[in-house]
This record gives sequence, structure tokens and C-alpha cells, in this order.
Amino acid sequence: MSENLSISSLFDLSGKTALVTGGSSGIGLEMARGLLRNGARVIIASRSAQKLDEAKGELADYPALEAIAFDITDPRHRLRLAGEVKQRFGSLFLLVNNAGANWGARLEDYPDAGFAKVMDTNVNAQFALTREFAPLLAQAAKADDPARIINIGSMDGLHVPIVQRVPTFAYSASKAALHHLTRALAVELGPRHITVNAVAPGFFASRMTRHVFEHYLADIEADCPLGRIGQAGEIVGVITYLASRAGAYTNGAVIPVDGGTSISKGHRDYLQSNRTPTNETNP
Ligand SMILES: NC(=O)c1ccc[n+]([C@@H]2O[C@H](COP(=O)([O-])OP(=O)(O)OC[C@H]3O[C@@H](n4cnc5c(N)ncnc54)[C@H](OP(=O)(O)O)[C@@H]3O)[C@@H](O)[C@H]2O)c1
Repeated sequence: MSENLSISSLFDLSGKTALVTGGSSGIGLEMARGLLRNGARVIIASRSAQKLDEAKGELADYPALEAIAFDITDPRHRLRLAGEVKQRFGSLFLLVNNAGANWGARLEDYPDAGFAKVMDTNVNAQFALTREFAPLLAQAAKADDPARIINIGSMDGLHVPIVQRVPTFAYSASKAALHHLTRALAVELGPRHITVNAVAPGFFASRMTRHVFEHYLADIEADCPLGRIGQAGEIVGVITYLASRAGAYTNGAVIPVDGGTSISKGHRDYLQSNRTPTNETNP
């Protein structure tokens, strides 16, 4: 019997259960919207109850949405969240580790506390949350339809960012660590029929990027081979793929969604000045 290869069958998320940490704003909110739109039941979880309420208001068209306030860096909150998801869903098909933090400062001024906060939020807590949710994910896992973990890394874990002006040492290091943690966990959890992949976004509009967009949007666009920032649908598309039957055999991948920024060599002046490059100096 041949497989059903229609788009609706390959990318269907009907009845799947998903938890999106940091789902109250930015990329997390858009991923939650996309998962709901494609049939999943979704819990969004982040610290501020007010922001969660605002997100619920924005996603009011989707009754399959729930919200839980929690701090990913607090071990008691992580356990409580796992307990609440178990109570409400019984098992979990998709964990999106999206909540994240950043800190920018010059090397001379970079505080230990800032470095620790970023590593704690972006690496330690993602690992611990994965450990707490592995049993619930295993309950939803099947050999031909594995449960999924998607870690939201960053292109800054693939290259050294240049446009921010203020260095973000801990952020880059934390995202590179999260990418490699993704690979290690993919090997560990694959035999339990749980896939682990990472998405490494480039620049998308969010609270985290508001300041840099205000000051450096032109440089950000010039730095990207496609000449623009990303759109919500471009993150939702890759998440839908990784969460659906279409992505069931993808495991341990780190997928850049950055318009090619992380593989370009940065700003090319000659494109801005309309100067045609020649091979005179490089025959
Ligand atoms: N936007 C981009 O261009 C971009 C690019 C590459 C990677 N990313 C990554 O995408 C993810 C989302 O970022 P964003 O740009 O969408 O920023 P954002 O709008 O600031 O969203 C961050 C989310 O994480 C939550 N959060 C932060 N600390 C938390 C904690 N300790 N416990 C629980 N929730 C916490 C925030 O809610 P509360 O403050 O209420 O907790 C919020 O919902 C991050 O991992 C970021 O590194 C973003």
C-alpha cells in the first residue's frame, strides 16, 4: 500500500499536544499560533501571568490553548509544570524549548551574574526541563511517529554576531551549547522514539530584538543575503515540518532559518555603492 503523500497528511498536527516555553511573546507566540492553526492542543508557559493573559487574548480564536505561569530556571516550577501537563494532557507529544535570555556588555564590563543568567536560562534549564518531560514524551512516542523536542537555538550559535555593536558572549556560547546538547540528546532519546532537533533563527521581530531593530535594522538587512528579517510563517513552517509526519525521520539536526546570514561574510559594501567587483586584485 502506498503512503499518503498529500500536504494535508504529511503536515497534519491534529490531536497532537504541545508545550511551548516562552510562548507568551515573539517567536514563541507565533509558533503557538501556528501549532494551534494546524490542529494541535497547546500550552504556553512563561513567567509573567499578565503577558500570558495578553497572549491568550491574542489567540482567543483557539479554544485548544492553555497557559501556565512558570520560571524555567526554578527547579520547583519545572516539576510543577510537568505535573500540570500530565494532569491536563496525560502525555506530551511536542516540547518546544523556546524561552531564552540575552545579555550584552563589553568584555571589560561583562558581569559574572549576567553570564550565569544566560547560561542558566538557555542551557541548564533546557536540559533540566527535557529531563523532567522525557517520561511524558515517552508516553506519546511511537516507533513510526516519534515524540518531538525542538530547541530554539540561534544563528549566533553558528557564527559570531557582528551587527549588535554590544557583544553578547554568553548568548552565543549558550546557543552553540544548546545546538550540541540537541545532538547529544538526539542520540540518547532516539531509541526511546523521541526526536530532538534545533532551529537556529536569524533576526525576527520580538521584544528581544526591538532595540537592535530600532538602531541597526539597515545593517541587519545588509548582513543578510536575502536582505530582510524573517517573517513569522518562516519559523512556523519549519516547526510544523519538525513536529509532523514529514519530519519524523529528522533527528539531531540544527536547522538555520536566517536567510543565509550565518554563512555570509557580513556586510558587502560594493552592493550598497553599486560598485561592480572586478577580479583585478585577484586574477
Ligand atoms: N527574535 C529573534 O530574532 C531570535 C533570533 C534567534 C533566536 N531567538 C530565540 O528565540 C527565543 C524566543 O525569543 P524572542 O525573540 O521571541 O524573545 P521574547 O519576545 O523576549 O520572548 C521570550 C519569551 O521567553 C519567556 N521567558 C524568558 N525568560 C524566561 C524564564 N526564565 N522562564 C520562563 N519563560 C521565560 C518570556 O516571557 P516572560 O518574560 O514572561 O517569562 C517570553 O515569552 C529565544 O530562545 C531566543 O534566543 C530569537
